[in-house]
Amino acid sequence: MKATTKRPTSRIKRLHNYVLKLNIYGDESDSTLIDQLLSTRIFLLLLFLLLLLIIVYIILSVQTHSVTIQSPSESTFTQLSQQYPSTLSCPCLHTSIRHDRFLSLNPLYHPICTSRLVNQSFISLLSSANVSEYHSKDYRKMATSHFQILGLLCRTVRQMIDDSLSELLSQHFTTSEVVSNETFNAQMNHLVEQLKTTNIANIKYISDFLWLNMFYNAILSGLKTNFYLKYSNAGTMDYNFYSYFDFSNAKCDCHRSIDCTAQAAITKLVPSNATVNPTTAAQNPVKLFSISGLRVGCLPYSSLLQSTLECFFKQSCIDRIQKYLPALAFVSPLSVHSRFHQKATVKHLLDQLFIESWNQINNFTAYFQSCSPHSCTYSYDQRFNILYVIVKLIGIFGGLKMVLKFSAPLIVKLIRRVQTCRCISEAIDKNEIPVQQSELFLFIPIFIFYFT
Ligand SMILES: *[C@@H]1O[C@H](CO)[C@@H](O)[C@H](O)[C@H]1NC(C)=O
Ligand SMILES: *[C@@H]1O[C@H](CO)[C@@H](O)[C@H](O)[C@H]1NC(C)=O
Ligand SMILES: *[C@@H]1O[C@H](CO)[C@@H](O)[C@H](O)[C@H]1NC(C)=O
Ligand SMILES: *[C@@H]1O[C@H](CO)[C@@H](O)[C@H](O)[C@H]1NC(C)=O
Ligand SMILES: *[C@@H]1O[C@H](CO)[C@@H](O)[C@H](O)[C@H]1NC(C)=O
Repeated sequence: MKATTKRPTSRIKRLHNYVLKLNIYGDESDSTLIDQLLSTRIFLLLLFLLLLLIIVYIILSVQTHSVTIQSPSESTFTQLSQQYPSTLSCPCLHTSIRHDRFLSLNPLYHPICTSRLVNQSFISLLSSANVSEYHSKDYRKMATSHFQILGLLCRTVRQMIDDSLSELLSQHFTTSEVVSNETFNAQMNHLVEQLKTTNIANIKYISDFLWLNMFYNAILSGLKTNFYLKYSNAGTMDYNFYSYFDFSNAKCDCHRSIDCTAQAAITKLVPSNATVNPTTAAQNPVKLFSISGLRVGCLPYSSLLQSTLECFFKQSCIDRIQKYLPALAFVSPLSVHSRFHQKATVKHLLDQLFIESWNQINNFTAYFQSCSPHSCTYSYDQRFNILYVIVKLIGIFGGLKMVLKFSAPLIVKLIRRVQTCRCISEAIDKNEIPVQQSELFLFIPIFIFYFT
């Protein structure tokens, strides 16, 4: 126990003595021994203080390292962009790339748009010469027009989307540097979102335009659904009789609104008992059954928009109408795999452009290959890198030692000069002080030497 406690103190004492006697200016003849010792101590003190300052500065300062990688692969880029998102920079060789190189859209439409129901050859089978003779609420009167319009809407929407797609895909994507997968996806999604919004707005515009046109021009339906001519008993013609449709328990007339609708039905004409004239019989038909979802109204267009296609999803419903519309025998039910509800109105389908999915593919790999960056540069900041501190210190130490070794005697000379000046002007009794002060400072250099 005694030996272990004694040893360090004796070692410190020995070191203390060693440092007190240490003289690195021994071979300088132009100064006294005291000045040489003082110079040595000032040298050691300054060296210690400056090294301490430099170490603290290096430790606290941030080092920026810059790294360049030649012809990076996509996976290297992805990894780097996650690691150094703010400093990574990979200039593109081709800054302007056509969208179709990496973006593809393959819209899938509602089953109605690919169904036989909107096939022209089917529609021509449906129509018959006396179609306008059915009662206004009889679906057979409207069926042909409904399918014609549905087919037209599908074709219009498809044409419109095809046009805007080919326009979008022929445009160029301009990036001076490779953007990250996330940014790339966000930009592509934004472009496609814009395309959707534009098309939806266009369809709404067309639809509103059609509606206003029909309303203000009071277009007379050839099917005699909104206005019809009526023969009076005297055989003269009365013009502009208009149809009535039930509209939320109130009578709605086609004169005031073109949006009047009623549930579609299949009706049967019964021979009238009245002998007066045959047309009154048509006004009082017998309803055989209603067809769920389908609406009839003043105009095929407005009634179609309010209809749902739910009947055409069920074979039983088709079979039921098929007796009265034989052409339906060639039609199979619509596929139920649809994002739309079966009870969605045609207006809703139209507002959504009849689109089930856009099947958008943003191919980042293809984008990366087209851009083909030849190099990537990134930088990172570092602190407390012990290796860096050591390397820096070794670099600095030699120079620092030289400068200090040279300047310590100068400082001593300066002190002596100040002292002699003071001595001349004042009393000469403070000669020992610098030595005592420097002895106080000595404890600090002792510690560095002890630990190194
Ligand atoms: C319509 O149906 C006919 C006969 O089944 C078929 O030949 C034709 O390709 C169809 N047309 C369309 C546009 O699907
Ligand atoms: C339409 O004509 C067919 C035969 O061509 C006939 O069976 C049917 O009763 C007619 N319908 C009306 C409403 O006149
Ligand atoms: C890019 O990001 C998308 C989702 O934003 C992800 O599905 C895809 O796998 C990513 N691709 C790569 C190559 O990281
Ligand atoms: C026609 O007359 C028969 C009996 O003659 C009667 O049962 C039926 O209700 C009448 N139909 C109408 C529409 O008036
Ligand atoms: C993306 O593009 C690359 C290169 O053009 C191709 O090999 C890859 O199959 C594409 N990926 C998809 C999902 O289309």
